[in-house]
Amino acid sequence: MEQDIQEVLFSKEYLDQTVRELGSRISRDYEGKNLLLVSVLKGSVVFMADLMRAITIPCSIDFMAVSSYGAGVKTSGVVRIIKDLDINLEGWDLLLVEDILDSGMTLSYIREMLQQRNPKSIKLCTLFDKPERRTVDLNADYSGLNVPNEFIVGYGLDYNEKYRNLPYVGILKPEVYGG
Ligand code: IMP
Ligand code: MG
Repeated sequence: MEQDIQEVLFSKEYLDQTVRELGSRISRDYEGKNLLLVSVLKGSVVFMADLMRAITIPCSIDFMAVSSYGAGVKTSGVVRIIKDLDINLEGWDLLLVEDILDSGMTLSYIREMLQQRNPKSIKLCTLFDKPERRTVDLNADYSGLNVPNEFIVGYGLDYNEKYRNLPYVGILKPEVYGG
């Protein structure tokens, strides 16, 4: 895998530090609340696993899996649920945990859908953000690191289902894309 990486953007230590800071902010803000972390598989599992351990107040977790309608082309963000949440959201302070916020279309749709299940509150936490790529009006309440408009892999993020297990985040060499 290493030889496919052009440049390391964020080291494991830097990511650890960023996640610890997000965890402390969330722990402070959600003190006394009914915190439920929800993430959409699969990209955010690594972040979720580290973030939950950086949170020092009681919290629960749940996961959902979705697939975009239509193949290939950029979708409208409309998704089909492959695996729904186990937990009924009523009464929970929901925090959506995302790996990376890009166009924001998928998450915007999911947020709308979960809002209709009457959680007590709903907020959004993303580790990485590409703000200039946004096509919908959606902003993270907790955002870790802004990233340049490049395709990054590692720490859960994939290219063709590969590189998720890299402990750091890097930019792929263009030749890996066949470019
Ligand atoms: P959005 O609906 O355009 O915001 O899509 C966000 C999703 O696209 C993320 O959850 C990732 O799965 C994927 N994605 C966007 N940018 C990258 C990247 O640089 N590397 C890996 N996956 C990415
Ligand atoms: Mg992906």
